[in-house]
Amino acid sequence: MTSIGLIGAGMIGHVHAEAAKRVGTKIVSVHDPRQERCEVFGDEFSCEVDGSVESLLARDDIEGVIVAVPNDLHAEFAIASLKAGKHVLLEKPMAMSLRQCDEIIAAREASGKVLQMGFVCRFSPAALRAKQIIERGELGEIQHVQATLIRQRGIPGLGGWFTTKARSGGGCLIDIGVHLIDLAMYLSSKQSPLRVYGKCTQTFTTETYAYDEMWSTPVVGGTFDVEDRVRASLTDVSGTTLAFNVAWATHLPEKTLNDGILIEGTLGSLVVDLWSDEITRGYASSGFPKTESISISLTEAWDEAFDGEHRAFANGIATNQLDVGTGTGEDGRLVQQVVEAIYASDNIGHEIAFT
Ligand SMILES: NC(=O)c1ccc[n+]([C@@H]2O[C@H](COP(=O)([O-])OP(=O)(O)OC[C@H]3O[C@@H](n4cnc5c(N)ncnc54)[C@H](O)[C@@H]3O)[C@@H](O)[C@H]2O)c1
Repeated sequence: MTSIGLIGAGMIGHVHAEAAKRVGTKIVSVHDPRQERCEVFGDEFSCEVDGSVESLLARDDIEGVIVAVPNDLHAEFAIASLKAGKHVLLEKPMAMSLRQCDEIIAAREASGKVLQMGFVCRFSPAALRAKQIIERGELGEIQHVQATLIRQRGIPGLGGWFTTKARSGGGCLIDIGVHLIDLAMYLSSKQSPLRVYGKCTQTFTTETYAYDEMWSTPVVGGTFDVEDRVRASLTDVSGTTLAFNVAWATHLPEKTLNDGILIEGTLGSLVVDLWSDEITRGYASSGFPKTESISISLTEAWDEAFDGEHRAFANGIATNQLDVGTGTGEDGRLVQQVVEAIYASDNIGHEIAFT
């Protein structure tokens, strides 16, 4: 049985613990400075509680560590875990800067351990099917990818670390946009950005935003100094265009824009709703347009995606090698590069060229 430790017993820490349990990975110990939360977590998942990151990493009964803490701690804990000889499953975003990404990759190289990025959307049943279809060449040459994730009222913990730039590195772009950027580039195999343009806005304030439904509750009187909406475009060296449309909050009527990825190629297209049990394919037959619904057998897409991520981590630990298609440190760095270019473009008001 794979034995791991967990740093951070927050919202996603729980999701990881449940997925680990389902796939037969043992969480041996957890650390979180919120002692009470840790105790409850320890009882719920029958694991030990370590009083510090150092003591958790010093254990010789864990082979890997999940880093599931606020973004400003990712680099520090990922590097410490690798230096302690542990394999790492690092939540997204990889870090707060490209420099930190490079430091994490250097630590991985020095340790010889596995570093897996928490790009869980790659494991959604719909995304896995889409990747197969694209790899069979059914879409031809990919020309355009449109990736959308629009929430009406979905700012995580408004006023807390998510909305405090110094702790998160940014708003909806670095939070949920990173999933879309990674998935769009992964599915289309367009991994060489040439030009990036981005516009980031903050429409809502702590006064105009009403908490509706979100797993993280607001922090009264807290900071909100990040964007809640991003429109961005990227052109790959091959000429393929990618468009990103992301919102934590918007005045758009519900379901105006469908969440997911739309991929257009020279032979066909795919419309992929990540959490659905079907994807739609457009193609031509004797010159006439055809639409095909491809059903996907699943029970609960979100759980299945996390199970896939955990099976990949367990396999990575067992073989000391990441499964093909699992997010690597280089993938995390590439996403960070695009995120930084979008923020830089927004700052200066025009396109950024990659050199
Ligand atoms: N993959 C996904 O779909 C997904 C979803 C949500 C969050 N995330 C990512 O996971 C990370 C955590 O997000 P969350 O929603 O669980 O946030 P959260 O605020 O619910 O939980 C973070 C936890 O980290 C703990 N923590 C803070 N400082 C710590 C320290 N020094 N040592 C150990 N623990 C510490 C906090 O006490 C808290 O319990 C973030 O990087 C976020 O971007 C990923």
